Amino acid sequence: MCGIVGYIGNEQAAPILMEELARLEYRGYDSAGIAVLSEEGICLTKTRGKLQALRNKLAAGMPKGYSGIGHTRWATHGAPSDVNAHPHLDQKGQVAVVHNGIIENYQALRKELQAKGCVFQSQTDTEVVPQLLAQFLQAGEALLPALLKTLDRLRGAYALGILVQEAPDCLIAARKGSPLVVGVADTGNYIASDIPAVLPYTRRVYLLDEGEIALVYGDHVEIYSEWGERVDKKIYEVTWSVDAAERGGYDHFMLKEIFEQPKAIRDTLQPRIRQGRIRLEEAGLTEEYLAGVQRVVLIACGTASHACMVGRVAIEQLARVPVEWDVASEFRYRNPILYPEDLLIVVSQSGETADTLAALRLAREKGCKVLAITNVVGSTIAREADRVLYTWAGPEIAVASTKAYLTQLLCLYLVAIEMAYVKGKLSDETYARYIQELETLPDKAQTVLTSTEPEHALAKRFCHCRDIFFIGRGLDYAAAMEASLKLKEISYIHSEAMASGELKHGTIALIEEGVPVVALSTQGQVAEKLHSNIREVKARGAVVICIAYGDSSLEDGIADHLLYIPRTDDLFAPLLSVIPAQLFAYYCAIERGYDPDKPRNLAKSVTVE
Ligand code: AGP
Repeated sequence: MCGIVGYIGNEQAAPILMEELARLEYRGYDSAGIAVLSEEGICLTKTRGKLQALRNKLAAGMPKGYSGIGHTRWATHGAPSDVNAHPHLDQKGQVAVVHNGIIENYQALRKELQAKGCVFQSQTDTEVVPQLLAQFLQAGEALLPALLKTLDRLRGAYALGILVQEAPDCLIAARKGSPLVVGVADTGNYIASDIPAVLPYTRRVYLLDEGEIALVYGDHVEIYSEWGERVDKKIYEVTWSVDAAERGGYDHFMLKEIFEQPKAIRDTLQPRIRQGRIRLEEAGLTEEYLAGVQRVVLIACGTASHACMVGRVAIEQLARVPVEWDVASEFRYRNPILYPEDLLIVVSQSGETADTLAALRLAREKGCKVLAITNVVGSTIAREADRVLYTWAGPEIAVASTKAYLTQLLCLYLVAIEMAYVKGKLSDETYARYIQELETLPDKAQTVLTSTEPEHALAKRFCHCRDIFFIGRGLDYAAAMEASLKLKEISYIHSEAMASGELKHGTIALIEEGVPVVALSTQGQVAEKLHSNIREVKARGAVVICIAYGDSSLEDGIADHLLYIPRTDDLFAPLLSVIPAQLFAYYCAIERGYDPDKPRNLAKSVTVE
């Protein structure tokens, strides 16, 4: 989720690019850079770190020129570093490119270009783009055909901003899978990955659609389809405030991130499924390695530890490998028994959580190989682990974790399914069925998000309750843990999650007339048992909200309220059942007058013990 900006017009480009980039700082990034077309050619300034580091580099003098592109990078391919920061140039320095997204076939393209003598500077997937475009231009192609040929070679997702020395009167913007807008003003035109970047200059923008390309001149904009045909597009007038625009029009980052979940699932899944097989070699999880795993240890904190609870069930059920699970703050102080052959998996959105990092270090001291599942490339946990499987959720800004949780689950499912398959515990049919089902999940998550009205209505009704309980069995219990944490951390309503069979061993004493109990009901194998537990709480006056499949056979009258999710394999239900719970928590916070993005006493990254 990098930020892209660009400007061409009557003004000096560099100060405008820096201002545009400052408007995108809220997105989170690890490096930044600009390229300006000056009289001497393309002038590149880039650095690892925050915009202030870039400002420091530019303090001696901004490059002079009337067009340029800029970028804030959220590392994906290649660690955060000066050389991996964008823009990237072709080897003659005549084409500069900034990119958001992932070029999936970059390795093949890189080899092909290297065979033709291209020398690469960075480890990024992006650098193939300027090299490829430069090749077509040097072969005598005009700008647009060269661009179409370049884009035709790229697989994956991209938003691109391109500066070409040979075409000084024009900036290029191209979009496939990642958003891009073109801002239009009297003194020049702009490109940006997000509307807030251009709002200081204009409220008039073209919203590029899938596959569209814009040739942006100082005084006009030409838009083309992916086949090179001219497109007549209407200008969109932005009516949001700058503050709201940073949140993409959503009231809060948390809500934006909840709505980004279908994309986060797709981005995490797609690069790992090729020709019907799960591919995890990027993280060193080869068939041979996975087939030999005898024990797995899952360690994390908070939401990530709830993802691990699901992972434990998935790995044990499918691969029949024993799994130990613990929260990192306990694990490190109980002198855990670890064997060098264990696969220790630490899960952390930020990659900086102190307890999780300490658990990783302890495991490595004991000779274990550690796999990190994390969202932040170049984070301490990513650097210190032996292997890394990245969740491609994009920056998560709200303190309450939502999209990171879903992508953590997904990575753990991929490990579980592949381990089971290579160990011969899954038939070809079941393996194929799981993969097919995983591929439907982005659309199913989108379906859950079609309307937030039911969750909002329930939040209005229950937001003033003192306690809300969540119950479930098996994977529903694991998902209930996360649902309950979401509610308490942002709404400050006391909440507990229970394995529903445990109620009668104590907690049922707290159930009285009108107490809300949210029952997650997706696990067919234990449905009847769960229904008995629901009847037990109803008999004591509880108001029951069920989260269940739309076509589920819940007993008549068992639920007072229902939140439906689309049917999926019970194994994957936590990926969908948590979404209504996130929305319920969000609206409870709103109805109680709290800012869900900034819950009291909590920090996004807990780097102290
Ligand atoms: C959940 O909403 C919280 N943000 C918190 O529980 C979080 O999951 C925990 O602190 C672990 O953080 P990490 O994933 O960055 O390691």
